[in-house]
Amino acid sequence: MSGARFITFEGLDGAGKSTQLATLAQALHARGIVVEVTREPGGTPLAESIRELVLRQDMGLEAETLLIFAARAEHLARRILPALAAGRWVLCDRFTDATYAYQCGGRGLAEEAIAVLEQWVHPQLQPDATFLFDVAPAIAAARRGAVRAADRFESEQLAFFERVRAMYLRRAAAQPQRFIVLDAAAPAAEVGAQMLRACEPWLR
Ligand SMILES: Nc1ncnc2c1ncn2[C@@H]1O[C@H](COP(=O)(O)OP(=O)(O)OP(=O)(O)O)[C@@H](O)[C@H]1O
Ligand SMILES: [Mg+2]
Repeated sequence: MSGARFITFEGLDGAGKSTQLATLAQALHARGIVVEVTREPGGTPLAESIRELVLRQDMGLEAETLLIFAARAEHLARRILPALAAGRWVLCDRFTDATYAYQCGGRGLAEEAIAVLEQWVHPQLQPDATFLFDVAPAIAAARRGAVRAADRFESEQLAFFERVRAMYLRRAAAQPQRFIVLDAAAPAAEVGAQMLRACEPWLR
Protein backbone atom coordinates (compact mmCIF):
# COMPACT_ATOMS: atom_id res chain seq x y z
CA MET A 1 0.00 0.00 0.00
CA SER A 2 1.70 3.18 -1.11
CA GLY A 3 -0.88 5.96 -0.59
CA ALA A 4 -0.13 8.83 1.74
CA ARG A 5 -0.99 8.12 5.34
CA PHE A 6 -1.94 10.37 8.20
CA ILE A 7 -0.45 8.92 11.38
CA THR A 8 -0.90 10.49 14.80
CA PHE A 9 1.08 9.98 17.99
CA GLU A 10 -0.74 10.18 21.31
CA GLY A 11 -0.01 9.68 24.97
CA LEU A 12 0.84 11.54 28.15
CA ASP A 13 3.52 14.24 28.27
CA GLY A 14 6.74 12.27 28.54
CA ALA A 15 5.31 9.00 27.18
CA GLY A 16 7.83 8.97 24.33
CA LYS A 17 5.77 10.31 21.41
CA SER A 18 8.45 12.58 19.96
CA THR A 19 11.12 9.92 20.37
CA GLN A 20 9.09 7.35 18.44
CA LEU A 21 7.85 9.82 15.84
CA ALA A 22 11.48 10.54 14.98
CA THR A 23 12.18 6.81 14.76
CA LEU A 24 9.30 6.25 12.35
CA ALA A 25 10.18 9.31 10.28
CA GLN A 26 13.71 7.99 9.87
CA ALA A 27 12.52 4.49 8.95
CA LEU A 28 10.13 5.85 6.32
CA HIS A 29 12.74 8.22 4.96
CA ALA A 30 15.13 5.28 4.60
CA ARG A 31 12.55 3.60 2.37
CA GLY A 32 12.31 6.66 0.17
CA ILE A 33 8.94 7.76 1.56
CA VAL A 34 8.52 11.53 1.78
CA VAL A 35 7.33 12.43 5.26
CA GLU A 36 5.88 15.59 6.73
CA VAL A 37 6.59 15.79 10.47
CA THR A 38 4.43 18.12 12.49
CA ARG A 39 2.74 18.63 15.84
CA GLU A 40 -0.33 19.99 17.61
CA PRO A 41 -1.14 22.48 18.78
CA GLY A 42 1.10 24.01 16.13
CA GLY A 43 2.48 23.21 12.71
CA THR A 44 1.99 26.64 11.13
CA PRO A 45 3.22 30.05 12.30
CA LEU A 46 -0.22 31.07 13.57
CA ALA A 47 -0.89 27.69 15.15
CA GLU A 48 2.52 27.80 16.88
CA SER A 49 1.59 31.22 18.31
CA ILE A 50 -1.67 29.74 19.57
CA ARG A 51 0.32 26.87 21.09
CA GLU A 52 2.35 29.32 23.14
CA LEU A 53 -0.85 30.94 24.45
CA VAL A 54 -2.46 27.60 25.29
CA LEU A 55 0.63 26.27 27.07
CA ARG A 56 1.48 29.44 29.01
CA GLN A 57 -1.53 31.75 29.48
CA ASP A 58 -4.13 31.27 32.14
CA MET A 59 -7.53 30.84 30.45
CA GLY A 60 -10.86 29.09 30.77
CA LEU A 61 -11.57 25.63 29.41
CA GLU A 62 -13.82 26.91 26.63
CA ALA A 63 -11.21 29.39 25.36
CA GLU A 64 -8.52 26.71 25.61
CA THR A 65 -10.55 24.23 23.57
CA LEU A 66 -11.58 26.77 20.95
CA LEU A 67 -8.00 27.96 20.53
CA ILE A 68 -6.82 24.40 20.05
CA PHE A 69 -9.39 23.89 17.32
CA ALA A 70 -8.55 27.25 15.74
CA ALA A 71 -4.94 26.09 15.54
CA ARG A 72 -6.11 22.74 14.16
CA ALA A 73 -8.17 24.38 11.41
CA GLU A 74 -5.11 26.34 10.26
CA HIS A 75 -2.87 23.31 10.52
CA LEU A 76 -5.24 21.17 8.46
CA ALA A 77 -5.82 23.80 5.78
CA ARG A 78 -2.23 24.92 5.33
CA ARG A 79 -0.20 21.88 6.13
CA ILE A 80 -1.85 18.50 6.71
CA LEU A 81 -4.35 18.40 3.85
CA PRO A 82 -1.93 19.84 1.24
CA ALA A 83 0.73 17.32 2.30
CA LEU A 84 -1.63 14.37 2.02
CA ALA A 85 -2.93 15.65 -1.32
CA ALA A 86 0.66 15.78 -2.57
CA GLY A 87 1.20 12.16 -1.52
CA ARG A 88 3.36 12.84 1.51
CA TRP A 89 2.87 10.87 4.71
CA VAL A 90 2.03 13.08 7.67
CA LEU A 91 3.33 12.15 11.12
CA CYS A 92 1.60 14.37 13.65
CA ASP A 93 2.53 14.63 17.33
CA ARG A 94 -0.99 14.81 18.89
CA PHE A 95 -4.31 15.48 17.17
CA THR A 96 -8.00 15.51 18.12
CA ASP A 97 -7.72 12.44 20.38
CA ALA A 98 -5.53 14.59 22.62
CA THR A 99 -8.31 17.18 22.87
CA TYR A 100 -10.73 14.48 24.02
CA ALA A 101 -8.14 13.11 26.44
CA TYR A 102 -6.96 16.40 27.98
CA GLN A 103 -9.91 18.77 27.73
CA CYS A 104 -12.65 16.13 28.35
CA GLY A 105 -10.85 13.41 30.30
CA GLY A 106 -8.45 15.67 32.14
CA ARG A 107 -10.40 18.89 32.56
CA GLY A 108 -13.99 17.66 32.39
CA LEU A 109 -15.37 19.32 29.25
CA ALA A 110 -18.40 17.52 27.79
CA GLU A 111 -17.41 15.19 24.96
CA GLU A 112 -20.31 16.56 22.89
CA ALA A 113 -18.54 19.94 22.77
CA ILE A 114 -15.46 18.39 21.16
CA ALA A 115 -17.61 16.28 18.87
CA VAL A 116 -19.28 19.44 17.52
CA LEU A 117 -15.91 21.12 16.88
CA GLU A 118 -14.47 17.96 15.33
CA GLN A 119 -17.48 17.72 13.03
CA TRP A 120 -16.99 21.35 12.04
CA VAL A 121 -13.22 21.41 11.58
CA HIS A 122 -12.55 17.97 10.11
CA PRO A 123 -15.83 16.24 9.27
CA GLN A 124 -14.24 13.85 6.76
CA LEU A 125 -10.73 13.32 8.04
CA GLN A 126 -9.56 10.89 10.70
CA PRO A 127 -6.02 9.61 11.13
CA ASP A 128 -5.33 6.41 9.17
CA ALA A 129 -3.59 5.13 12.28
CA THR A 130 -3.00 6.42 15.78
CA PHE A 131 -0.22 5.15 18.01
CA LEU A 132 -1.12 5.42 21.67
CA PHE A 133 1.99 5.30 23.84
CA ASP A 134 0.41 4.08 27.03
CA VAL A 135 2.29 4.54 30.27
CA ALA A 136 1.56 5.16 33.94
CA PRO A 137 1.50 8.89 34.82
CA ALA A 138 4.30 8.49 37.36
CA ILE A 139 6.64 7.05 34.73
CA ALA A 140 5.78 9.79 32.24
CA ALA A 141 6.32 12.44 34.92
CA ALA A 142 9.72 11.00 35.82
CA ARG A 143 10.76 11.03 32.15
CA ARG A 144 9.81 14.62 31.50
CA GLY A 145 10.91 15.84 34.92
CA ALA A 146 14.53 16.07 34.00
CA VAL A 147 14.01 17.75 30.66
CA ARG A 148 12.46 21.20 31.19
CA ALA A 149 10.11 23.45 33.18
CA ALA A 150 6.48 22.29 33.24
CA ASP A 151 3.82 23.99 31.09
CA ARG A 152 0.12 24.46 32.04
CA PHE A 153 -0.63 20.79 31.38
CA GLU A 154 2.57 19.22 32.66
CA SER A 155 2.14 20.93 36.04
CA GLU A 156 -1.13 19.05 36.67
CA GLN A 157 -1.37 16.39 39.38
CA LEU A 158 -1.09 12.66 38.75
CA ALA A 159 -4.90 12.26 39.08
CA PHE A 160 -5.33 14.56 36.07
CA PHE A 161 -3.04 12.35 34.01
CA GLU A 162 -4.85 9.22 35.22
CA ARG A 163 -8.04 10.67 33.75
CA VAL A 164 -6.26 11.63 30.52
CA ARG A 165 -4.84 8.13 30.23
CA ALA A 166 -8.24 6.54 30.91
CA MET A 167 -9.86 8.64 28.17
CA TYR A 168 -7.16 7.68 25.69
CA LEU A 169 -7.63 3.99 26.53
CA ARG A 170 -11.39 4.31 26.23
CA ARG A 171 -11.08 5.85 22.79
CA ALA A 172 -8.59 3.20 21.72
CA ALA A 173 -10.95 0.44 22.86
CA ALA A 174 -13.83 2.05 20.96
CA GLN A 175 -11.83 2.37 17.71
CA PRO A 176 -9.52 -0.65 17.59
CA GLN A 177 -9.24 -0.44 13.79
CA ARG A 178 -7.49 2.93 14.06
CA PHE A 179 -5.55 2.74 17.35
CA ILE A 180 -2.38 0.81 17.97
CA VAL A 181 -1.73 0.78 21.70
CA LEU A 182 1.87 0.23 22.72
CA ASP A 183 3.24 -0.37 26.20
CA ALA A 184 5.39 2.74 26.50
CA ALA A 185 6.88 1.65 29.84
CA ALA A 186 9.18 -0.66 27.86
CA PRO A 187 12.63 0.56 26.79
CA ALA A 188 12.49 2.99 23.86
CA ALA A 189 14.14 0.54 21.47
CA GLU A 190 11.50 -2.08 22.24
CA VAL A 191 8.61 0.37 21.84
CA GLY A 192 10.12 1.50 18.55
CA ALA A 193 10.47 -2.07 17.28
CA GLN A 194 6.82 -2.77 18.08
CA MET A 195 5.77 0.42 16.34
CA LEU A 196 7.76 -0.46 13.21
CA ARG A 197 6.29 -3.97 13.16
CA ALA A 198 2.82 -2.46 13.21
CA CYS A 199 3.75 -0.29 10.20
CA GLU A 200 4.99 -3.17 8.06
CA PRO A 201 1.67 -3.95 6.36
CA TRP A 202 1.56 -0.37 5.00
CA LEU A 203 5.00 -0.65 3.46
CA ARG A 204 4.56 -3.72 1.33
N1 LIG B 1 10.62 4.03 26.33
C1 LIG B 1 11.36 4.93 26.99
N2 LIG B 1 12.04 4.58 28.10
C2 LIG B 1 12.75 5.48 28.79
N3 LIG B 1 12.88 6.76 28.46
C3 LIG B 1 12.24 7.18 27.35
C4 LIG B 1 11.45 6.30 26.57
N4 LIG B 1 10.92 6.99 25.55
C5 LIG B 1 11.35 8.26 25.69
N5 LIG B 1 12.15 8.38 26.76
C6 LIG B 1 12.79 9.60 27.26
O1 LIG B 1 11.79 10.28 28.02
C7 LIG B 1 11.81 11.68 27.75
C8 LIG B 1 10.47 12.09 27.14
O2 LIG B 1 10.34 11.47 25.84
P1 LIG B 1 9.64 12.24 24.64
O3 LIG B 1 10.12 13.64 24.57
O4 LIG B 1 9.77 11.40 23.43
O5 LIG B 1 8.13 12.20 25.16
P2 LIG B 1 6.87 12.97 24.60
O6 LIG B 1 5.74 12.00 24.72
O7 LIG B 1 7.16 13.52 23.26
O8 LIG B 1 6.70 14.13 25.67
P3 LIG B 1 6.00 15.58 25.50
O9 LIG B 1 4.54 15.31 25.43
O10 LIG B 1 6.39 16.28 26.74
O11 LIG B 1 6.56 16.18 24.24
C9 LIG B 1 12.99 11.92 26.82
O12 LIG B 1 14.10 12.27 27.60
C10 LIG B 1 13.21 10.56 26.16
O13 LIG B 1 14.54 10.36 25.78
MG1 LIG C 1 7.11 15.46 22.54
